[in-house]
Amino acid sequence: MGTAILGTGSYLPERVVSNQDLEKIVDTSDEWIRTRTGISTRCIGGKGDETYLLAARAAVKALQMAELSATEIDLIIVATISSHMLMPSCACFVQKEIGADRAFAFDINAACSGFVYALDLADKYIQADPSKKILVIGAETLSSRTNWEDRNTCILFGDGAGAVVLGHVEGSRGVIGAKLFSDGKLWSLLHMHTAASCNSELLQAASPGVHIVMEGREVFKYAVKAMEEAVLALLEQEQIALDAIRLVIPHQANIRILNKLVERLGIGTEKVFINVQKYGNTSAASIPIALDEANRESRVQAGDIILFCSFGGGFTWGATLVRW
Ligand code: UT7
Repeated sequence: MGTAILGTGSYLPERVVSNQDLEKIVDTSDEWIRTRTGISTRCIGGKGDETYLLAARAAVKALQMAELSATEIDLIIVATISSHMLMPSCACFVQKEIGADRAFAFDINAACSGFVYALDLADKYIQADPSKKILVIGAETLSSRTNWEDRNTCILFGDGAGAVVLGHVEGSRGVIGAKLFSDGKLWSLLHMHTAASCNSELLQAASPGVHIVMEGREVFKYAVKAMEEAVLALLEQEQIALDAIRLVIPHQANIRILNKLVERLGIGTEKVFINVQKYGNTSAASIPIALDEANRESRVQAGDIILFCSFGGGFTWGATLVRW
């Protein structure tokens, strides 16, 4: 133990797109979207909202809360599937943007599970060298990877970024443990073949290759079962009772997935932080955005045990327990 979250931050693009706005683009309705997904609005970035800029804005807020300067950061890990360019990494752009001159920086791709994967990686770095200060960021501009003619997917996704600053602290505070899983055999149910190099180009791209393709119903089934199993395996591994969890911050994909998960686990809905109605599915950014909101609303108090759980393309999934 000992890898604590020293600060959180998030940033959402200013432009809010409602379900009514989407009714003008595809054959859908506010009622269908709300009842099937729980989503009412999502934030959609434009020029000046490239993934690395969203990430940098979230990072600056997390650094402010942690009372650290960017030059004190040793490592930046960005979890994303919608980086500004294929190379360099989003993390290198963030480093440049915030002036984290001492840091090394790289991206990881674990789709919607990117944040829990990156958090685990950062925890291992800090366990190996407790002097390290690490920025872990989940950032996406999924609007640039969305086929705006496909009503099955375009209603689901949004843009945004969330960040945490991690460092070693003495005592019981910090990451308790994690359980991560993947199943590449199921890749075709949720994938994106290829991506052009710049988001601004993708915004106009007609090529089907750059868009998220999904078998929604299949993904739904796997998501509930996989997250439930990950959570139970993690509780078993750490010998922690379900009742000890004060707040669940799940990946915000769909309210029905979350309701099913909560029902199967037997957790009270008041213990689950939900903001999917405002932002839709922001993939790797959804957990750190939700964590930042929960933190700023004082939904987490010192000593609380918090559970993160996620599921996404790959398939990838996992769960993490943190003592606040
Ligand atoms: O982060 C992980 C990534 N992905 C997910 O978590 C998504 C998991 N899947 C889901 O959330 C759900 O499967 C969806 C929300 C994507 C879809 O809900 P569903 O209840 O599984 O609907 P469905 O795909 O079975 O479609 C039911 C009907 C179909 O019409 P027919 O064939 O019954 O006539 C669809 O064509 O709803 C239709 N439909 C729509 N209707 C209005 C699909 N999309 C829309 C839409 N508006 N936007």
